[in-house]
Amino acid sequence: MCIGPATEPQPIGLRQRLPTDRLSSSDDEEGILGSSPSGREIKKTRSFLRIVDAVKPQFDARLAMRQIHNDAVVLKSIWLSSLAKSGDHASRLEKFYGPQAAQYDGFRSKFLWGREPLLACCAARLEERKVWVDLGGGTGENVLLMAKYMNLEDFDKIYVVDLCPSLCAVARQKLRHLPNVDVVEGDATEFAPAETTVSLVTFSYSLSMIPPFHAAVDRAVSYLHPENGILGIADFFVSNKFEPLPLRQHSYLRRVFWQSIFDQDGIYLGPERRNYLDHCLSRVWEYNDEGSIPYVPYLRVPFYVGVYKVPKLSTILVENKVEAPARFPPTFLYTQSWEDPHADAPYILLGKNDTVLTLTSGGCNSIDKCLHGVKAVYSVDCNPAQNSLLELKRTAIRRLPYEDVWMMFGEGRHPDFERLFERELAPFMSQKAIKFWKSHSYYFKTGLYYHGGMGKVVAAMQVLFQMFRITPTVNNMLASKTVEEQVRHFDSCWLVRVFRHAPTIMVSLLSNIVALLLFNRITLWFGGGIPAKQAELIQHDGVHLSDYAARTFVGVVKGSLIARDNYFYHNCLTGRFSKTCCPDYLKKDNFHKLKDDQLIDSLHIVDDFFLPTLEKRTYTRVVLMDHLDWLSAEQAKEVAIALGKHVAKGGRVIWRSAAYTPRYARFIENSGFIVTRVQAHTEAHEMLDLVNMYASFWLAVKK
Ligand SMILES: C[S@@+](CC[C@H](N)C(=O)[O-])C[C@H]1O[C@@H](n2cnc3c(N)ncnc32)[C@H](O)[C@@H]1O
Repeated sequence: MCIGPATEPQPIGLRQRLPTDRLSSSDDEEGILGSSPSGREIKKTRSFLRIVDAVKPQFDARLAMRQIHNDAVVLKSIWLSSLAKSGDHASRLEKFYGPQAAQYDGFRSKFLWGREPLLACCAARLEERKVWVDLGGGTGENVLLMAKYMNLEDFDKIYVVDLCPSLCAVARQKLRHLPNVDVVEGDATEFAPAETTVSLVTFSYSLSMIPPFHAAVDRAVSYLHPENGILGIADFFVSNKFEPLPLRQHSYLRRVFWQSIFDQDGIYLGPERRNYLDHCLSRVWEYNDEGSIPYVPYLRVPFYVGVYKVPKLSTILVENKVEAPARFPPTFLYTQSWEDPHADAPYILLGKNDTVLTLTSGGCNSIDKCLHGVKAVYSVDCNPAQNSLLELKRTAIRRLPYEDVWMMFGEGRHPDFERLFERELAPFMSQKAIKFWKSHSYYFKTGLYYHGGMGKVVAAMQVLFQMFRITPTVNNMLASKTVEEQVRHFDSCWLVRVFRHAPTIMVSLLSNIVALLLFNRITLWFGGGIPAKQAELIQHDGVHLSDYAARTFVGVVKGSLIARDNYFYHNCLTGRFSKTCCPDYLKKDNFHKLKDDQLIDSLHIVDDFFLPTLEKRTYTRVVLMDHLDWLSAEQAKEVAIALGKHVAKGGRVIWRSAAYTPRYARFIENSGFIVTRVQAHTEAHEMLDLVNMYASFWLAVKK
């Protein structure tokens, strides 16, 4: 029998994932009613439903009323009858859960928010799928939820262990279709599976209810497979007063409030359980968040999800709290890197022994460096959103097939992004990136390349093209077979003709309107990622910003066939890449090199400022991009001095500048480099590289 998610007809339990079926574990089969000690409750529900049946529109209203009634039963247990103080643990649990056993699942699906990320992460990380022990497994709902993430048949055995007889009865009934599941009524602190070791142990909101938690953890660790075993936990939580892990930290008020509220029900939220897990095991992944509570507005309970392995030094994970500097918007500026890596290649000369430092920006060029098989690439950005984008690209390359990666980053759209993210990507990403993409998953619905600062400019440009009837010219240019044909279409555009042939006074007026619209500080910074300092450099060279832009675009039109050769502008004009016109990492053979030859593993993503990252180690190659244009003379001097100390002899540094001769070139020379300007944009209509956006390109070689 197939137990997997695609099975037809599905076992009852699998259907329970549908919200409208939420009550099914308790009322759709005689068996549960018969065997459940809460049968009387259910009969009451049924007579209540007969009344509700009379109400129209029948289906939704009925379901809603049933839901509310069942939730009321649970809330009555939680709020009015807390876990008894007397008796042994098993009987106290029975008194608490017995009356709500049949309604348990419906309510908890809106409350235990950590369960699905926990199961998704465990399923994605399991190397060996043999035996799973779910400790404090309650109604066995997690087993059914797990079917969403993997085929349950992959397990030789699943143990659902719980001390509460009523919940075990519900679990037995619900999981009776699954021959590899064994529901064990017993104590987690004493349970021992028949097998010597198991591949997965989970505590889903149960460790906080087990007073002798040390014993429960010790026991679980004793049978966890020492190499491949995974211990996963999801639970409510409040932090230590002084938390060494910043993402876990809670304020005094939250610590005291939540701990005292849950304490009433015999649920212990204190940090001691998590501290003990950290002590016994190695963290490989964790996620901290807060979740809503049914019928309680505004309040959100903190919870965490953690995945651990038997200790090995290399698996310890500590995540720092990352915040963007205030001037950044809450998203990224760039969706692609705006420097041409092919133009860099003859100067940067990458080899397999190189340790490269680069800025992240859109991340394509950081991945491109990996393609050269270098030893390590450190990709640094102080805007965490840029790094979240790169982390998504890296994880997608590692975890997904080419077709999905192409849809996400080639087309910029993926109809199934949320599912892939939950199952394949998030379990391997940092908390910072998970939170970013959870709230920005819609980018892949409306087109990634229309989002972020520059994406908004691209979208606005397309609207302006429509409004001013430039779109037909753009389409003709994109359909051109030769550069000459493309230039002909460009020249025939009415706006270009106006600029070329109108009287000087009118051209000057038009230039100023364009400059006001496109080159004001806000658009330059949020849309083009060009800070005020860089705009000043351009003006300092005596170049008007609109001439600078015209030089860029006219050069591109005359120097490259956009639809075939220039993926940067092809993306701007169409909001996507094409398979023949895209960054190298999106080409199928390169993708496989990154993935199958594990070249992508040389990529390290660093959330920090450039200077401290430069000062951390010695590099043989540094790509400054146009970073120094953004800095004051003092800051640029500091970077130049650090380059002198942290670039190995013979090491190469490249950068581009909006100025013909930026002042800091001299600083770098003074730090022990031979500095050469390898290109300067002096001819109005020439194309230096596919981006063609800078006035000069520089190489510094360490003496
Ligand atoms: C909040 S419920 C969570 C149930 C289930 N894991 C889920 O995610 O829905 C906590 C469960 O832990 C069980 N439990 C508490 N102490 C236990 C112990 N010492 N041994 C086994 N189960 C225990 C309770 O009976 C209850 O089912």
